[in-house]
Amino acid sequence: MINTSATNQFTRVNDEMGMDWGIQNRMSRMIKPPTGRSVMLACDHGYFMGPTHRLENPRKTIEPLLPYTDTVAVTRGVLRTSIDPKWDTSILLRVSGGTSVIRDDLSDEGITTSMREAVRLNVSCVALSIFVGTAHERQTLLNLAKLVDEGQDYGMPVMAITAVGKELEKRDARYLSLACRIAAEIGVQIVKTYYCEDFAKVVEGCPVPIVVAGGPKLNSETDVFQLAYNAVREGAVGVDMGRNIWQNDNPVGMIKAIRAIVHENATVRDATQIFSENKPTRKVEEPIQA
Ligand code: R5P
Repeated sequence: MINTSATNQFTRVNDEMGMDWGIQNRMSRMIKPPTGRSVMLACDHGYFMGPTHRLENPRKTIEPLLPYTDTVAVTRGVLRTSIDPKWDTSILLRVSGGTSVIRDDLSDEGITTSMREAVRLNVSCVALSIFVGTAHERQTLLNLAKLVDEGQDYGMPVMAITAVGKELEKRDARYLSLACRIAAEIGVQIVKTYYCEDFAKVVEGCPVPIVVAGGPKLNSETDVFQLAYNAVREGAVGVDMGRNIWQNDNPVGMIKAIRAIVHENATVRDATQIFSENKPTRKVEEPIQA
């Protein structure tokens, strides 16, 4: 067992929050007990972005990555149509929505999927975006509170996603600390946020585990590995990453490399090597026989 601060934090949080058995069991399906960390694959973008580049056919994108994923994040529509129920990967179910990328304000979200449906689908966690500091701050925070109450009734963990909509510049420690702490105070079991400068301060002010999103595709693989490495070193329990994995030409190499960083404390250099070793071999065209 890797004795990391993330492991200690998760164990401590579990004990101190007196989590019910059902919630603990579902959390353990995502945050894996041997390391206390998690590689989550974010594939829920379609709920407001439509057929996102390289997620046009979700099954085609998701299936090759499932063996290297602890949890896959999807909506119920993609879960039912594109993921084989025989797979043992745990599910993080997106349950908020009601907006589309065409509109300027993405914060006007409601709850799109009931807790009863989440239980029926046997998911390990439900996820909802909160939009702190926007016109719909109150609405999204009260939606979160409702979800946490229902989660307690059903033994279902709740993840808050500290969404920034199109205002990517909001991703700083001051704003993210505020949003993460508010979510924790409302009672979520886990938060997804962005990595930022002084990220350790965000972790310090948030008494529940944090995973980081990747955001839009970065310039290089090294940038992605560095982000994941810094995030776990500064206290994240893992990543919930999408575009920087499946928009890459070598998605399997990306997820294997990130998995090594998250679960094996691999360095950026190790990760780069894993990525290169897993490049798909190009098919050599057979010469046409006369
Ligand atoms: C937004 O659609 C979701 O919250 C994503 O799951 C989140 O942004 C993580 O995906 P990515 O790494 O592509 O930002």
